[in-house]
Amino acid sequence: MRDRVEVFEGDITMLAVDAIVNAANNALLGGGGVDGAIHRAAGPRLLEECRALGGCETGDAKPTGGYDLPARYVIHTVGPVWQGGDRGEPDLLARCYRRCFEIAAENGVASIAFPAISTGIYGYPLERATRIAVTETREHLTEGSALDRVVFACFGAEVREMYAAVIDEVFPH
Ligand code: AR6
Repeated sequence: MRDRVEVFEGDITMLAVDAIVNAANNALLGGGGVDGAIHRAAGPRLLEECRALGGCETGDAKPTGGYDLPARYVIHTVGPVWQGGDRGEPDLLARCYRRCFEIAAENGVASIAFPAISTGIYGYPLERATRIAVTETREHLTEGSALDRVVFACFGAEVREMYAAVIDEVFPH
């Protein structure tokens, strides 16, 4: 199972996977961070499709095409803003990953890449967020997934090292 999980250090928009996940906001109309990078790389048709989606609740996700990206789909999800941890943030972040896996399955996605949702502008502590990302992935793969590749796109060495350590801990050898 662990052989289906990969860590990649760099820009998620370069990945030739079936779907990349966007860490978006409730409006789904673009923004900074990975959201800005994805919109720039996908081109203006992505924003056009997003306008028709009517936004997205925190903890939910919605798919679009990938347009000029190598990825066929973008799955836009909205992580929680960190407010100290007792405002339901862990549950909301876990729901983001579960909804992305559901949408991936509905669309026949075999390979997916995630950024470290909520850990940038939204301020979620990296280690706690990484544990949620990796344990939700293990749960999904254990349930019998059609995914043969889950890539964690890590922006910088600190994030890559955190994912590598947590994967070591969470996935049985
Ligand atoms: N590829 C991969 N990861 C990236 C990239 C990239 N090109 N660029 C940044 N990251 P953030 P959030 C990393 O802030 O915390 C936007 O304005 C980044 O270093 O992008 O969920 C949205 O519109 C960090 O590790 O997302 C929302 O308003 C991770 O991606 C808000 O930010 C997530 O950081 C969402 O905030």
